Amino acid sequence: MSLEIVILAAGKGKRMLSDLPKVLHPVAGRPMLEMVIKTASLLDPTHIHVVVGHHAELIEQSLNALPDSLRSRIDCVLQSEQLGTGHAVSCALPNIKDDSLVLVLYGDTPLTPAQVLGDFIIESQKHDLCVLSAYAEDPFGYGRIVRDNLGKLEYIVEERDASEQTKLIHEINTGIICAKASILKKWLPKIRNNNSQGEYYLTDLAGMLVESGQNVGLSMAPDFSVLTGVNTKSQLAFAERTYQHMQAEQLMRKYGVTLADPSRIDIRGELICGKDCYIDVNCVFEGKVELGNRVRIEAGCVIKDCKIGDDSIISPYTVMESSLMKKHTTVGPFARLRPGNILEDEVHIGDFVEVKKSVIGKGTKAGHLSYLGDAQLGAGVNVGAGTITCNYDGANKHRTIIGDDVFIGSDTQLVAPVNVPTGVTIAAGTTYTSKIKAAENDLVISRVNGLCINGYQRPRKEK
Ligand code: UD1
Ligand code: CA
Repeated sequence: MSLEIVILAAGKGKRMLSDLPKVLHPVAGRPMLEMVIKTASLLDPTHIHVVVGHHAELIEQSLNALPDSLRSRIDCVLQSEQLGTGHAVSCALPNIKDDSLVLVLYGDTPLTPAQVLGDFIIESQKHDLCVLSAYAEDPFGYGRIVRDNLGKLEYIVEERDASEQTKLIHEINTGIICAKASILKKWLPKIRNNNSQGEYYLTDLAGMLVESGQNVGLSMAPDFSVLTGVNTKSQLAFAERTYQHMQAEQLMRKYGVTLADPSRIDIRGELICGKDCYIDVNCVFEGKVELGNRVRIEAGCVIKDCKIGDDSIISPYTVMESSLMKKHTTVGPFARLRPGNILEDEVHIGDFVEVKKSVIGKGTKAGHLSYLGDAQLGAGVNVGAGTITCNYDGANKHRTIIGDDVFIGSDTQLVAPVNVPTGVTIAAGTTYTSKIKAAENDLVISRVNGLCINGYQRPRKEK
C-alpha cells in the first residue's frame, strides 16, 4: 500500500500573537514545518501533501528553499478558508489514490521522531483508522481521548467542548492519525461543524467511525514531550528546550562529550565531535560544526559552520563563522572570526582580534586588538597589538601578504595592497605602504622623531 503523508500547515496560529505563520516559527533555527517535512521524508512516502492557507506564499517560499531531493516530493494544496483540521485534510484528498494509506501530521508538532511514526504506521495497518495518543501531565488545550468501559477509543473531544469531568482526562490526542484513503474520502464529508469553534474537526472522525462499527485503533506513544503541539510562545520554548535536551543527550551518548551543563547548550544544526571534547555553558552551534579530538570550547561561544582541529581551545565569548582551524590553535577570549579563514596549526588569535578571509600560517600569533582582513600571513609571524590591515579603499578590497617570520610592531597599519617580505621587522607605529620597498630581514620604521619640551606647563582652567 502506498503511503501518502498530509501535513496541515494552513492555520494562522492566533495564539502565537505573531505576524509570521505559526509553522514557520523556528525550533533549533529551522521552521517547524521543515522539521516535520524532514521527519516525514524519512518514512519514504510517495508524496508529502502540505496543506497551506494563511500566508500560503510565505510558506511556499520557504518550501522552495528546501533541497531538491525534499522539494520534489512535496505537493502544496491550498485550503483557501481555514474551516478546521477535518476540512484541511479533505483538501488534500483529491490528489490521493483510494487504495493508499494516509498519515496526517500537524505542522505545529515538530519533534515527533520518525521511529514513533514508523511504529504507528505498522500498527495502523490493522485498522480502518488509527489515532496516536499520549499521556500528558498537563493536558490543557489538547483534545481528550475518551475510552469506553472496555478501554477502547470511544471518541475525541476538544478542550473547548469538553465537560469538567472530561477535562480531568490526561490521555490526549496528538493530532496524528493514519487511515485508509478510501475511509477518509467516505467519512470526512460527513463531519459537521456544530462545535464551539464552528470548525470541521478531524478529531470527530474517530467517534463517528466507532459509532458506525468501523475498526478504529488507538495507539499510545511512549513519550509525550516529543509530541507537544506548539500553539503559544511558551509551548514553542518548551519544544525548543525539549529538542536541545535531546541533542545534548545525543552528544554525550554518541561522542562522549563533556558538557558543563547539558541544559545550557544550543545546537541549531549539526555538531560532530571527536573524543574527549569539552563544552562549557551557553555555547551556540549553528550550521555544521566539526570538532576534532580534545577540543575545548569555553563559555559563551557562538560557532557557525566551522571545523576545529585536535587540541584546539576556543576561549570564552568568541564568535566564529565559516572558518577552518587546524590543530593546537587557540582563539579568544572575545575574538571574532568572520567567514573565510584558514588557521594553520598552532595559530593564536587573542582578545579583540577580528579576522576575515585570511590565511594565517603555522604558529603565527595575533594576541590583541587587531584587524586582519583579506590577508595572507606566513608562519611564525608576530602581530603586535593594534595592527590593522587597511584592506578597503572605499571602493575595493585589497590583499595584504606577509612573509614568514615577520615581526609586526604594535599599532602598525598595513595599507593594502601590500607585500611584506620574509623576516622583515616593522617598528611600532609604522604605516606600511606599497611604496616601501623592503627586502628580506630589513627593518621598516615610519615614525616622526620624538621631541621633548622641557618644563612644559599644561594649560590650566582659569578660576
Ligand atoms: C489539534 C486537535 C487536538 C489535538 C491537538 C494536538 C483538532 C480539532 N484538534 O488542536 O485534538 O490535541 O491538535 O496538538 O484537530 N490547520 C489547518 N487548517 C485549518 C485548521 C488548522 O491547516 O483549518 C492546521 C494548523 O496550521 C496546525 C494544525 O492544523 O498546524 C492543528 O491546528 P490547531 O489549530 O493548532 O489545532 P489545536 O487546537 O492545537
Ligand atoms: Ca496545535
